[in-house]
Amino acid sequence: MSTPEIHDVLAEVMSVKRCRGGVYRAELVAPEIAAVAKPFQFVNIKVSPGNDPFLRRPFSLSRIEPDEGIIEITWAVVGKGTGIMATWEPGREVKILGPLGNGFSLEDKGLTGGFIAPLGGKAPELILVAGGTGLAPMYPLVMSARKSGFTVSLFYGGRSLESLMDTDRFEQSGCEVHISTEDGSAGFRGVVTGLFESRLRNLSASDIVVACGPRPMLQRLKSMCGQRNIRLYVSLEERMACGVGLCKGCAVKTSGNDPGYRHVCTDGPVFLADTVELGGE
Ligand SMILES: Cc1cc2nc3c(=O)[nH]c(=O)nc-3n(C[C@H](O)[C@H](O)[C@H](O)COP(=O)(O)OP(=O)(O)OC[C@H]3O[C@@H](n4cnc5c(N)ncnc54)[C@H](O)[C@@H]3O)c2cc1C
Ligand code: FES
Repeated sequence: MSTPEIHDVLAEVMSVKRCRGGVYRAELVAPEIAAVAKPFQFVNIKVSPGNDPFLRRPFSLSRIEPDEGIIEITWAVVGKGTGIMATWEPGREVKILGPLGNGFSLEDKGLTGGFIAPLGGKAPELILVAGGTGLAPMYPLVMSARKSGFTVSLFYGGRSLESLMDTDRFEQSGCEVHISTEDGSAGFRGVVTGLFESRLRNLSASDIVVACGPRPMLQRLKSMCGQRNIRLYVSLEERMACGVGLCKGCAVKTSGNDPGYRHVCTDGPVFLADTVELGGE
């Protein structure tokens, strides 16, 4: 197995904006990372020059532009680190370690077990299910899947219209977008797994579901896809310290015939749902 290429760089913040859904989005100049990053990989960011907060914070790559040397991150303010990031201004420099994690590529036989149909054959359908900021890492996968000729559909849900992030870039890239809100202010009224249920009935064993969002959503999807024998990949978020497999802080229990632990930062964040315990089983 080849050693992953990880870079510790000082990246310039090129732009920061507040976007729909109350999230922030920043473009960072990091050509070394942009050149090698895969969908669903992440970066560990030192959000301020001092020691407070001491630990770096992990964020998925919401856009990867290797030709321009730019990566983009999208975040919700939930605490001190993300609050500081919301005050970043263009021109500032931040320390970034990445790309980290296994990422997810439809051509990657290591993770998919060679399940994906070869290029040139009939490609299976790719279904993305996202809740809240779980939408952030989905776009780079859509871009690579569309280039490989996959049909891609997105099921995206939140509490209300105001809580939903912008999905324009997904629509523009030819992805079919389905929305749900719990209060019914946009799209299907209810949770996103309810919206996805009708589509699940029409999926075949060669199709693939990739999900990112709150743990109860992932638990429900695991049960739903398990009953229909549909292959589900989940991207997990655990609190992280090192991001590179040293602190063992991000361990998740394996399930099935392989008792033990996996680390979200190095073995994940993407796992075949059947191989990890998500709780609620
Ligand atoms: C691989 C990975 C990718 C991520 N990608 C994104 C992303 O693209 N966009 C985004 O908005 N967030 C993402 N997160 C979550 C993000 O890292 C946390 O929200 C952030 O670290 C919180 O920092 P803070 O200092 O603001 O909050 P803190 O003050 O540290 O914590 C505030 C609250 O957030 C919770 N929290 C903190 N860290 C995590 C975490 N790692 N996972 C789940 N809950 C956490 C805490 O339990 C607490 O309730 C990702 C996490 C991981 C592990
Ligand atoms: S964050 Fe340290 S081992 Fe995963």
